[in-house]
Amino acid sequence: MSQQPSAAAQALPGHPFVAYHSAELQVEDVRLSQLATEHGTPLFVYSKASMLAALAAYERGFAGRHAQICYAMKANSSLGVLQVFAAAGCGFDIVSGGELERVLAAGGDAAKIIFSGVGKTRAEMRQALQAGIGCFNVESEAELDVLSQVAESLGLRAPVSIRVNPNVDPKTHPYISTGLKDNKFGVAHEDTLRIYQHAASLKGLQVVGIDCHIGSQITDATPYLDAMDRVLDLVASIEASGIALAHIDFGGGLGINYNNDTPPAADDLWAQLLRKLDERGFGQKKLMIEPGRSLVGNAGVCVTEVLYVKPGEHKNFCIIDAAMNDLPRPAMYQAFHAIVPLLAQTGATLKTTEVPEKMYDVVGPICESGDWIGRDRRLAVKAGDQLAVLSTGAYCMSMSSNYNTRGRAVELLVDGGKVHVIRERETAADQMRLERLVRL
Ligand code: LLP
Repeated sequence: MSQQPSAAAQALPGHPFVAYHSAELQVEDVRLSQLATEHGTPLFVYSKASMLAALAAYERGFAGRHAQICYAMKANSSLGVLQVFAAAGCGFDIVSGGELERVLAAGGDAAKIIFSGVGKTRAEMRQALQAGIGCFNVESEAELDVLSQVAESLGLRAPVSIRVNPNVDPKTHPYISTGLKDNKFGVAHEDTLRIYQHAASLKGLQVVGIDCHIGSQITDATPYLDAMDRVLDLVASIEASGIALAHIDFGGGLGINYNNDTPPAADDLWAQLLRKLDERGFGQKKLMIEPGRSLVGNAGVCVTEVLYVKPGEHKNFCIIDAAMNDLPRPAMYQAFHAIVPLLAQTGATLKTTEVPEKMYDVVGPICESGDWIGRDRRLAVKAGDQLAVLSTGAYCMSMSSNYNTRGRAVELLVDGGKVHVIRERETAADQMRLERLVRL
């Protein structure tokens, strides 16, 4: 594993393995400008050391406990990324049959897979039962009945946990809040005991745990602690009714630093959660968590080239070769990603060139006004300059599309000084492969 950058290097806040070395931006020991020359842009570059360091923070938090970390692979489901976590002994949180196939292709252990999501199909249930996954996180009473039937038809019993909606406000973007009463997720707190009793009566099921998930990009420990209190109340009443719960799963992981955000460190959060668990007498249970963003988000950058600089009456536009199909979060959630030059001048401001610094909206080539990557950014740029869009390891490639028949970008995994291509650039032929011309 690569060491943290030396003091001479200028690491970017929240990105311990992305740093300027003599004014050149590097991921671990590799210069991004060199990667852009070799592989073209747009280009995603991920640091393996950063992913493993983020995982280690959760592991430290759980030290000495019976615990399992299941990487929520929706954050980044590229095989090379999954391999890193599989090799590190991680479990996986999946939400589709496709994700199951990916985990198995990357060498993940089926027994450490949990299957979340409100709309599992019968075919997906069969596929997961036959693979021998560890647990189904069930989200409704109707799903329990169907899962039991499917398991019985295969002569199996499905291990289940029921996702409880704790009705806690995670104080994040409304689209990524999941634990409020009006969200489609989980079962209502007040119905939980009855639904557990129903689950325990079904022949095709084996109740093994309880889970909750309140949202994503949470930067404060309080909603987690509140949700834990609500879940532990339920654990007490479910167990009092004679149903044993082997594990408690606290759902997704922490938020990351996109824009001076200050989430607690994973080990600090766990110290607080474990204190509460111990106080309430549940410290011996198996604990699970499903972090996605915090394991990969700040491990990744997207390298892009400035195509044109276009002055406008009210705004200047910096048109880059990455777009909302590569980086959908700004268009979808008005999300902020820092944008920095690959070549910096040291000093108060970082400049790629001697062109004057101006305010720009950084936009992509797609024919939509929503295709912006950053608004009101102070940059000194000219056509041909290269920029890095930061914190793009999570929910970028996995949510990318082919809109405007744009091919998906190349993905590279950096490990110290070594560079692995984990996805080649998608061509138009790749995109058209499953389509058929008709005889008109
Ligand atoms: N477990 C479940 C059941 C989830 O629904 C999610 C995320 C996670 C785990 C992982 O949460 P994380 O550790 O990444 O916060 N596309 C959005 C994020 C959607 C998250 C949905 N669920 C974004 O780009 O911000």
